Amino acid sequence: MLSLIAAAVCLIGSVLTQTPPSYTLAETNKTLGLSYGSVSVKAGETLPYRVPTFAPTLSTISPLNETYIAIIVDTTANLSSPIPADLVWFQQDVTFSAAGIGSANSTAQVPYQSPTSVGHAYLALIYTQPPGFAIPANFPYSDTFRLAFNVTRVGSDFHTPLLAANWFVLGSNCPAPSYTASSGYGFATHGPFAKKAVYTNGAAGRY
Ligand SMILES: *[C@@H]1O[C@H](CO)[C@@H](O)[C@H](O)[C@H]1NC(C)=O
Ligand SMILES: *[C@@H]1O[C@H](CO)[C@@H](O)[C@H](O)[C@H]1NC(C)=O
Ligand SMILES: *[C@@H]1O[C@H](CO)[C@@H](O)[C@H](O)[C@H]1NC(C)=O
Ligand SMILES: *[C@@H]1O[C@H](CO)[C@@H](O)[C@H](O)[C@H]1NC(C)=O
Ligand SMILES: *[C@@H]1O[C@H](CO)[C@@H](O)[C@H](O)[C@H]1NC(C)=O
Repeated sequence: MLSLIAAAVCLIGSVLTQTPPSYTLAETNKTLGLSYGSVSVKAGETLPYRVPTFAPTLSTISPLNETYIAIIVDTTANLSSPIPADLVWFQQDVTFSAAGIGSANSTAQVPYQSPTSVGHAYLALIYTQPPGFAIPANFPYSDTFRLAFNVTRVGSDFHTPLLAANWFVLGSNCPAPSYTASSGYGFATHGPFAKKAVYTNGAAGRY
């Protein structure tokens, strides 16, 4: 259904929930501000293909004065898998300015990867980062390993609640709005991350 919508028109979704209705592993009605250049995402809308090329700017209207983990997943990467999402971005150490604009002072554990699957529902999530948080040594996800990311485990393993979310469908043939390419958080380099070991009690790829 999502792919039909994406192929047909650029819809602005009039949905209340800020997570895809088909994806029940993470649900919230609280909005995470998500913008790509000048394009501010409205939950459920179809974005022209080029728009989400670079990492988004996150924002919030409620005061978020601690440190956060931002995650983007392709929720429909593999619908025949019990863990259907692939990881697009895992950025730890996100803080928000007084104006509510997010930034991070460390290289993303999993650098942002331009979405390429037309019709897929991409979901952005923000979690409180626990004090003293460090990426577990056996966390299997990296620039080169993104398959089967179980979003539910973020909350349970890191003992942190989902705070807000936003999502879009990647479109192909929509007219592009004016768009200024953004380099997102400005971390051009991809870290030397190549961990694929077993993470806690799940095998790599079964997070
Ligand atoms: C979102 O809002 C709807 C309608 O008020 C409600 O039924 C639903 O339980 C809410 N979902 C969450 C995750 O809070
Ligand atoms: C964040 O703001 C809340 C509410 O204004 C306040 O209670 C809390 O102490 C603040 N936390 C930090 C780390 O500044
Ligand atoms: C999708 O998930 C199924 C079930 O886990 C698996 O057998 C299959 O290899 C996966 N497909 C891809 C392309 O990863
Ligand atoms: C990055 O920000 C976090 C959270 O504000 C802080 O704990 C950490 O010390 C900062 N690291 C550097 C290298 O500035
Ligand atoms: C996903 O993670 C949750 C929380 O740890 C767990 O209960 C669930 O079994 C996991 N799903 C799969 C398919 O492994």
